[in-house]
Amino acid sequence: MAVYENASEITVEMMNLSDASARTAASKSHSDEDGTTVPGGKLLRCVAVSFCLLCVLQVALNISLRLALSPPPGIDASFKNLTEERDEFRSINLRIEESYKTLTEERDELKRKLSNFALYSNQGWVYFSGSFYYISSINKTWQDSRDDCVRRGADLMIINSKEEQEFTRKYRQIMWIGLTDRETEGVWKWVDGTLLTTSFWHSGEPNNYEGTNEDCVAVNYHDYKNSWNDLECVIKNFWICEKKMTL
Ligand code: BGC
Ligand code: CA
Repeated sequence: MAVYENASEITVEMMNLSDASARTAASKSHSDEDGTTVPGGKLLRCVAVSFCLLCVLQVALNISLRLALSPPPGIDASFKNLTEERDEFRSINLRIEESYKTLTEERDELKRKLSNFALYSNQGWVYFSGSFYYISSINKTWQDSRDDCVRRGADLMIINSKEEQEFTRKYRQIMWIGLTDRETEGVWKWVDGTLLTTSFWHSGEPNNYEGTNEDCVAVNYHDYKNSWNDLECVIKNFWICEKKMTL
């Protein structure tokens, strides 16, 4: 410990002390004149280097992430192709579903028709050119004959063609058909309400024979191509029913 003889010595010593402390403080952040790094400068350099390293690392990480997460080349085109294929398959699927529905309906309709065919055939009806025909084995008036046909889900026969006319002649029976002028004398109408166009009247018919009221028609003269005759509706004859049916 220094022992000071007077106040001036104490003052000099104190000035020396303050210079030293000032130098110590300065040495925390500056280098010496010959370039040697003092401890504070090292820290700064460390921080700067670390920061640079971190930046480099950040850039490297960004690039890696971008490479890892970005879609591989061509993925957009593949995606577009897949979307188009999916849409195509969807529309094909829709068409198949519609066809399936239509086919199912057609199948059900055919089944219904087939079972009807079986039913009518088993009940003695004869199939000819798009219709089933039923020929009675007993005699009835024209109206009772018609009622019988209606009960069977049919009506008295309507003759629309030469072929149908020929078909009736094969049975060689006098049979009521669905033609009448009951509503208006001389205006011949079929049971479906249509007017007579093509006719097969026998020579001299229709004639309201000897002043009688012959309002109903039968296939009568089966030896002739033109076989129709008008007869009184109350006469009892066989009859022929027709039920249209196509497959
Ligand atoms: C006549 C027919 C008539 C029938 C009545 C026949 O001799 O030629 O026109 O409808 O008799 O039974
Ligand atoms: Ca007649």
